[in-house]
Parts: sequence; C-alpha cells; structure tokens
Amino acid sequence: MEVSPDWGEILSCFLFEQGAEGVHVREESSERTVLAGYFFLESSSDRMKKQLCGSWKEQYGGKKRSAWSGLSVAAVPPQDWTTEWRKDYRPIPVGKTILVQPSWLPVSPAEKRTVVLMDPGNAFGSGTHASTQLCLMGIEEFHRCGETVLDIGCGSGVLAIAAALREEKAGLSPDASRRIRAIEPDLDAVATARKNARRNRVGGRIRFWGQSLEDFRSAPSSLIVANLTALDLIHLSSDMRRLSRAGSLLLLAGLEVRDIFSVLDHYRRGGFRKVKVRKRQGWALLVLQRT
Ligand SMILES: C[S@@+](CC[C@H](N)C(=O)[O-])C[C@H]1O[C@@H](n2cnc3c(N)ncnc32)[C@H](O)[C@@H]1O
Repeated sequence: MEVSPDWGEILSCFLFEQGAEGVHVREESSERTVLAGYFFLESSSDRMKKQLCGSWKEQYGGKKRSAWSGLSVAAVPPQDWTTEWRKDYRPIPVGKTILVQPSWLPVSPAEKRTVVLMDPGNAFGSGTHASTQLCLMGIEEFHRCGETVLDIGCGSGVLAIAAALREEKAGLSPDASRRIRAIEPDLDAVATARKNARRNRVGGRIRFWGQSLEDFRSAPSSLIVANLTALDLIHLSSDMRRLSRAGSLLLLAGLEVRDIFSVLDHYRRGGFRKVKVRKRQGWALLVLQRT
C-alpha cells in the first residue's frame, strides 16, 4: 500500500485491525511511504483486496480515499520474519557523539562517535525510534560519568549501554558502587539486554533486574531515564520520587508532544521542576529535576 506519510500510522493500525500479523513501514521519500501488511491469506488475493477497500470505505468514507493508493496483494513464499527486519537496519547517528550500529556490521576504524552495538531481537530499543533517540540525546547532554543511573524499561539495553560506554570512554573503572541499574519486566528483553551489554564489553558496568518499577527497591539514583508511555509516566510518578533525591534528574520519554502538559503538570505537583523539553517527530523528552 502506497500511503501519504501523514497517514502512515493510522494505516498501520488499520492493517493490524484487518488481521495483519505484522506491518513493515518503508519511508521511500518525504512524500511516499510504502506499508506492507502480512496476513495469513485464507481467501484469494482479489477478495483480500476487496475486503481492505470495503473496510476502509466503511470506516473513513470516500473523502479519506486519498490517504493511500497503489494497493496490491500478492502471496509471498515462507521467510524467516524474525531476521527479515535486519535488512533495513542501518547505523544511526544520534546527537553529536553517539552511533547506534547493528552488531553484525563492521565498525569503521575511523569512527569517532561512541558506537553502541545493538542486536535488539524482539526487544524495543533498536535506536530507530524518535523516543529512544531523544533519550540518547538526553544522556549525551545530562549524564555525568560516575553518577548512579537508573534505566527504567531498558528493553534492548540501548540507553544503559550508552551511559556505560561513556563511562568507559572517560576512563572510569567499572566500580560496583557506581553501577548503572537497568530494570525490565520482560525477561526475554533482559536476556537480550545482557547479551548486548557483553557485546559492547560493558557487562560489568550494568546491573540488570527482571522487574517492574513498582516492585523495584534500591537507593535513589542521580539520573533516571524512562522511555515508557505518557500514562505509565503519570502512574509511576510516586515510584520515580521514591527512587530519586533532591537534585536528581529525570529523562522522561515515550510521550507524544500533545501529552507534554499533562505529564509536566503531574510531575510539577510531585516536586519536580522543568529543565528542558525536546521534541522529535511528534515525540517529546522532558528533562526534570527533583526540587
Ligand atoms: C518503549 S520501550 C523502551 C526501551 C528502551 N529503553 C528504549 O528507550 O528504546 C519501554 C520498555 O518499558 C518496559 N516497561 C513497561 N512498563 C514498565 C514498568 N512498569 N516498569 C519497568 N519497565 C516497564 C517495557 O517492557 C518496554 O521494554
């Protein structure tokens, strides 16, 4: 399905609603995005096409017809979808100093950036999402080497690993008392994050817990980074307070620009002040400090 980029997200949801097992988004230019929805096809290609057109018309009517064009349905031979996404995964420069690099590609010896080698597997945190990039830029700007860091919902481990690599680059010894803490309730993601930490040779600098924030007990951290959702950030604000102290910085992401005010207002009432707000592709990063 060729779609106008403004409609990419809505049409991805539409394809999932219609029973797609997965949707692949390829941005070909600023005007053209191609969505590939993968279905177990029980009827003919023609019927599938009719079903998609009919459902779209029913939901959005004729006037939203221009959201997409060029719909084609074709049978594809079986492929290993768990590795297929790798083809589009390229090194991603983030901010001024970080490069998130697929772990299977060679690193150029001339590379000056801090290279975070990633194989996210099924975990969130490949570095392609704007909210991850905002957190990495936040780490680049606000992380002071040697301070205690808590990565809440570490997914692939990308943020904790970036902080650990900065410490390594600054020549800090992997002192246990300074360990970076990373928590994640999805145990498969924790295993992936541990592997990624070892890949980057910073396994000894990060301690991982297979836990949700609500169940996590630890001394306060100086820097907390949490890429969740606006709703989670609001629900978890008392836990953020419990795990911070006066002066601690929070890097909160995963919220959309339209949610900035509600999250900010909630945290202000909980004793945090705004330091900075950064936006990228409709997503926001809030940098807050505990007063
Ligand atoms: C959007 S991903 C962020 C992954 C990675 N930190 C990044 O920035 O790319 C959010 C992660 O938070 C985890 N998560 C969700 N609720 C959580 C909670 N209550 N406590 C800790 N982690 C949570 C999810 O399992 C998911 O892996």
